[in-house]
Amino acid sequence: MIREGKVFLDIKLPQVISSRMPVFYNPDMVVNRDMSLLIVLAFVGEGAVVCDPMGASGVRSLRFLLEAGASKVIYNDINLKALEEFKRLIEINGADGSKIEFYSEDASLLLRKLKGCDYVDIDPFGSPVTFLESGILPVKRSGLLGVSATDTAVLSGTYPLTCIRRYGSKPLLEAEFYHEVGIRILIKKVVEEGAKMDFAIIPIFCYSHKHHFKVFFKKELGARRADEVLKNLGYITYCSNCLYREVARLESMKEFCPICTNKMLYAGPLWIGKLWDEKLVDKVWELKDRIILSQNSLKLLKRIKEEAKKQTVGFYTLSAIGERLKVSNLPTLKKIIFLTDGTRTHFSGEGFRTLLNHRDLLKLVENIKG
Ligand SMILES: C[S@@+](CC[C@H](N)C(=O)[O-])C[C@H]1O[C@@H](n2cnc3c(N)ncnc32)[C@H](O)[C@@H]1O
Ligand SMILES: [Zn+2]
Repeated sequence: MIREGKVFLDIKLPQVISSRMPVFYNPDMVVNRDMSLLIVLAFVGEGAVVCDPMGASGVRSLRFLLEAGASKVIYNDINLKALEEFKRLIEINGADGSKIEFYSEDASLLLRKLKGCDYVDIDPFGSPVTFLESGILPVKRSGLLGVSATDTAVLSGTYPLTCIRRYGSKPLLEAEFYHEVGIRILIKKVVEEGAKMDFAIIPIFCYSHKHHFKVFFKKELGARRADEVLKNLGYITYCSNCLYREVARLESMKEFCPICTNKMLYAGPLWIGKLWDEKLVDKVWELKDRIILSQNSLKLLKRIKEEAKKQTVGFYTLSAIGERLKVSNLPTLKKIIFLTDGTRTHFSGEGFRTLLNHRDLLKLVENIKG
């Protein structure tokens, strides 16, 4: 028996977790499920109507009922075997299935028939792009949408042509904050999918963990509100020689680095607004003991709590400073965070954010070099 939160599963795990499992269950994705429960609890409260349209084993659905006090869960998976396993899971756990609606059909079709959901969780294999439009529709006003993406290599720049085709944006593998660029591209895509239907889709919490990104969005209604949100789309220009970076609009993008005259690289269009709603982050932190969290989730949450206080676009890493700025006597991460009044970032174990402008950071680095 595997235990996740309050749920017991009797699933035999294969050596390698893959989409070819008869019914999919990935223990590493406990972080994804933990976070979805917590964010819904913090944002909606108890009594939420939750839709789990790619439910697989159903562990998320059942946890929403047993741990997050959902009033109704709409479970679906196109794989009929998954639905059967979910019913068995409910039995094994002696849970009350009367608050669950069961479906086994294509998620896009089902989502188009639903309405009034407080939360919809889009969690497919790979990219979520094909489910975005239908996923946004059943979320009620001021409700929540959760989007997972496991095509992080595409979003982060390993396959730039695929990223441009799938998301309509150029990634930036050359930057030390390439994962952050990836998540900002994913956010842009979801925001645009909402805007075209006159919905304002606003990111309020996100993270990157192992092989997945997860972003939670608030849905508001109205063309004017959607236009406001679209103002947060833009570009990042970046110098791979001196690490200079700048948020830019298309019309104001610099071709050459204002510091070292190197040719600038760019990423985008992407989300240049905040990644976290600080009030929500505080609330999530307050409520963290209400859910049985994995150690990894707790670690992630702790880091994001700090990181959300310094919401810069992009961050630095020790290795980029060492290699590109030729610093041989690198200080520790702790020291450089002290010197720059920075914070750590959950995106990288050796990364830090600082509100110092780049010229001041370069001066500080020159001092370190001595
Ligand atoms: C990554 S798994 C979901 C994991 C699950 N949400 C969890 O937390 O354990 C993706 C699931 O989507 C299902 N699926 C794939 N295509 C689908 C579709 N078009 N409609 C509904 N379900 C689909 C698969 O059968 C699989 O169980
Ligand atoms: Zn430069």
